[in-house]
Amino acid sequence: MTDQTSSKSNSVQVSHLRCIGCGTVFEKAQQNFRCASCDDLLEIVYPDWNRSDATRLDAAKLRALWRQRRTSGLPVDESGVWRFREFLRSFDEKDVISLREGNAPLYEMPGCARVAGLPQLYAKHQGMNPTGSFKDTGMTVAASVARREGFRWVACASTGNTSASMAAYAARGGMRSLVLIPEGKVSWGKLSQALDYGAVTCQLKTDFDGCMRVLNEVVQRMPIYLLNSVNPYRLEGQKTAAIELMEQLDWQPPDHVIVPGGNLGNSSALGKAFIEMRQLGLISRLPKVSIIQAAGANPLVRTIRQNGGKELISVQAETAASAIRIGNPASWKKAVRVLQVTGGTVEEVSEAEIALAKAEIGADGIGCEPASAVTLAGLKKLVEQGFVKPGESVILILTGHLLKDPEFTLKFHRGDLFAGAISEKELAILRPQQRAPIVLDATVDAVVQTLKAADDQLEL
Ligand code: F0G
Repeated sequence: MTDQTSSKSNSVQVSHLRCIGCGTVFEKAQQNFRCASCDDLLEIVYPDWNRSDATRLDAAKLRALWRQRRTSGLPVDESGVWRFREFLRSFDEKDVISLREGNAPLYEMPGCARVAGLPQLYAKHQGMNPTGSFKDTGMTVAASVARREGFRWVACASTGNTSASMAAYAARGGMRSLVLIPEGKVSWGKLSQALDYGAVTCQLKTDFDGCMRVLNEVVQRMPIYLLNSVNPYRLEGQKTAAIELMEQLDWQPPDHVIVPGGNLGNSSALGKAFIEMRQLGLISRLPKVSIIQAAGANPLVRTIRQNGGKELISVQAETAASAIRIGNPASWKKAVRVLQVTGGTVEEVSEAEIALAKAEIGADGIGCEPASAVTLAGLKKLVEQGFVKPGESVILILTGHLLKDPEFTLKFHRGDLFAGAISEKELAILRPQQRAPIVLDATVDAVVQTLKAADDQLEL
């Protein structure tokens, strides 16, 4: 499909759907968003951006336009995704389904910097989106495409966040949504969102990878629009987090960006954005984008370490960070390319390391869901290995809100998260971070005594 857009600031933009494997350009994507010739994934490319003449987007004009839109009251300008719409395919403003997504804060993390051994550390909190995860930035774009193309139904397989986000955007856009999730492996916060936003929610007796397999067949048979991250419009929307980050950093790229890896759509999208921003002269160099996985769900780590990223090594995934419990990631090739082009690396972290990092992010007054905490846990290792050097600037991408998975947090603080599954040594490291609720008689004395004891402990 060739599409054109005119932006007030700049010139007409052309974009194509192109296969990442064989390079074939398509008029229109198939229902499963795979190449009709070689079955690889598609990506959206902007051929004009390679030109050096006056029709190319102008970096200074774009920066000024995007900044100016922050003072506008138009819904598309208030959205932290559509504000950067020159980086998306063309859209009529009336077709946009928006919950004012994006606009995610960049926080300084002094406590986390200390534990990582760095003088300074920042986190971009994508969990501060309307449904509490980064998925909203991609969903606003892909759901808008679904409605524009006339679909009544949209669908996804999910570990929870995609389904929550899709259900919300479908509801706002007047569409129905079908959710396939692994039974018993999705946190209650996320499941309850899908229900409340009105999705038809099916808990399948399989894992995420099994849900994905079933859904791929369903979309071939039924007129239903697939909203997983194989849909390249999702990734286009998710790119804007990187643009927003660069704006927050006054267009000075950090040395490192650290991202959790599950289905590998987000790392692919952020990497694509950095590459495109450099192409257009919005930034002068690329940050190293590194991807962290849970050790029990580490297909990318194995793939890179065992064959340099040539062939995917799938795994049977297991981790309490349920959002990234994925063994057969769809976007692995795109992620490998991002690692290669940006010079990033991969790392894996244990369950105890994830839990500790999550509590440390919480102790900075920020908090996140377990999958996001792999970033800090991974960073500690990258600092130890010397891949991240003490003077370098680092941004952690926190992908989900603390309240997405309160059960994990409660179990951690009560001390029953691991139920004997980790060593005594690891438990001893976690203990100082655990703050179980204290049950007391309803007396002033009891509360005062508890307060004094807590204060004494602080002074130790
Ligand atoms: N962090 C959170 C909170 C997630 O929900 C996910 C993915 C990831 C990280 C990994 O991102 O897949 O782009 O590599 N969640 C998907 C879902 C799979 O269904 O909600 P990714």
